[in-house]
Amino acid sequence: MPIKKDPFELSISTEGGYSELLIKRPEYRELVTFSQNKILPIYNWFYYKEGFSRDLVWNLLNELKIPKDSKIIDPFCGTGTTLLACKQLGYNAIGFDILPLAVFVSNTKLQSNYDMKILKEKISEISSLKFGPSSLKWTQPGFIDIKKAFSRYARNDILFFKEKILRVEDEKIRNFLLLGLLSIVSEASNTKKDGGVIKIVKKRHLAPVRYLLKNRLKKMYKDLKRVPTSNGHAEAHPGDARNLPLEGESIDMCITSPPYLNYVDYTKLYGLELSLLLDNKKELDELRKKSIRPHIGAEYKRGKKIKSEKLRETLDGVKEIPITSSRVPQIVEGYFEDMYFSLECLYRVLKEDAIAAFVVSNTCLPNITIDVDLILAEISEQVGFKPREILVANTRWCDVHGIRKERPVRESIIILEKST
Ligand SMILES: C[S@@+](CC[C@H](N)C(=O)[O-])C[C@H]1O[C@@H](n2cnc3c(N)ncnc32)[C@H](O)[C@@H]1O
Repeated sequence: MPIKKDPFELSISTEGGYSELLIKRPEYRELVTFSQNKILPIYNWFYYKEGFSRDLVWNLLNELKIPKDSKIIDPFCGTGTTLLACKQLGYNAIGFDILPLAVFVSNTKLQSNYDMKILKEKISEISSLKFGPSSLKWTQPGFIDIKKAFSRYARNDILFFKEKILRVEDEKIRNFLLLGLLSIVSEASNTKKDGGVIKIVKKRHLAPVRYLLKNRLKKMYKDLKRVPTSNGHAEAHPGDARNLPLEGESIDMCITSPPYLNYVDYTKLYGLELSLLLDNKKELDELRKKSIRPHIGAEYKRGKKIKSEKLRETLDGVKEIPITSSRVPQIVEGYFEDMYFSLECLYRVLKEDAIAAFVVSNTCLPNITIDVDLILAEISEQVGFKPREILVANTRWCDVHGIRKERPVRESIIILEKST
């Protein structure tokens, strides 16, 4: 009988170097995913599959004994899980993201002190509007045809509501309503997010936009009533983690999750929502060039030579894969260069003795597993950090090109210390 292998055990049994830092922590398995957020008020206002969950942040703050007067940073804040979780516990927090959609969603989730009476009135006003034509147009995102992505009715209705919402004077209420609209775009479309890409699919029963929006806004309103106010302050800014506009030694702690090395292009995956939020295609194209490089579109040339033994070995392995496209080694190298610059920048803004927690996933290619966690631990040391431990939250079997149950792939939380 074949011996049953536990991928968790197997994944931490590699010997030597930074793998000595690996610690099995399965209680974090669900929390490194967005799963818990899906049922939490406010956290679930926008489904961001790449996010982690509230309790990951709460548990790390607790486990690492972070004092309440600390200021926390998330340089890749996504839709603001770290920011909201910190604010709710009374911490101050600041976040950056290159994607305007992510910054908008984060800041709207962080808004508080609404005039609930006016908000209720506006929700019912918007929900009961009689349809009419809209003078607005969709920005074609370029990689998908808006006319195929939505029925004519859905397209018109979304633009109709957008136009009405943009006329709402109160900024906070306007943002709230616009987030409601953005959050139903995917559901109202003939598309499906599938892994890292968005696909056109035929949906049998598409609910009308008006119905989806009304229900969504009602639910969001209820959430505001359920969630207690807190005295922490948090905000998100558009920005690049490789070049943060912050003073040196001004931040006490970091909890973040950079894009994974898995070719997910956020500007495509959330392209429909982005094209509704932004009004021109040029801006969208510019964005794609700027992001961290797990995907082909991104450009950022500084040509840093990273001194990492593990990365060198990995790149040699990648080059040997028979089916490797000539761009893969370049993409992998580019990714780690970007991570080097992000770590270097983070090191500068953190105070002495500060701790940083990085949630990352390893990557599986046909004959090689890229141990992103171990490579980043090594790179972080080059930047000046001391890698303390690598909490292995989850493992799955590599399943590319029919390779099954051979190699475990880790999802980990790298804990770094800024020590001088
Ligand atoms: C894994 S997601 C973070 C999700 C977040 N933890 C949450 O719970 O919502 C990574 C984020 O990094 C952002 N990003 C990509 N390149 C960036 C860069 N150069 N600077 C800042 N953010 C970037 C992406 O837009 C994406 O929102």
